[in-house]
Amino acid sequence: MSHVVLRLASGERCEIAAPPGQTLMQAAKSGGVPGVEADCGGSMVCGTCHVIVDEAWFARLPPPCEMEQMILEGVPEPHPRARLSCQLRMEPSLAGLAASVPATQR
Ligand code: FES
Repeated sequence: MSHVVLRLASGERCEIAAPPGQTLMQAAKSGGVPGVEADCGGSMVCGTCHVIVDEAWFARLPPPCEMEQMILEGVPEPHPRARLSCQLRMEPSLAGLAASVPATQR
């Protein structure tokens, strides 16, 4: 079972199971990580699932599509390493991925 680490704005560190095939958003929701709201359920329209991926992992992710980029430009505090967690599908090579949950999603 792969695990990922999500750090909260409060400083709390959440290590959660992230089975291959699930999205990071699904893993965060299953793991009870606060701050990953995911209002649209993964339909890539709300932006409330975004996370800031650690630099060491960011370049290892597949690039975002145009729609994801557009949504990320509209989040409250756009960040160059922000990604929609609903668009990051877990696979064994992403075991150990680390990211931060922003203080606010809207
Ligand atoms: Fe809505 Fe990811 S859950 S964009």
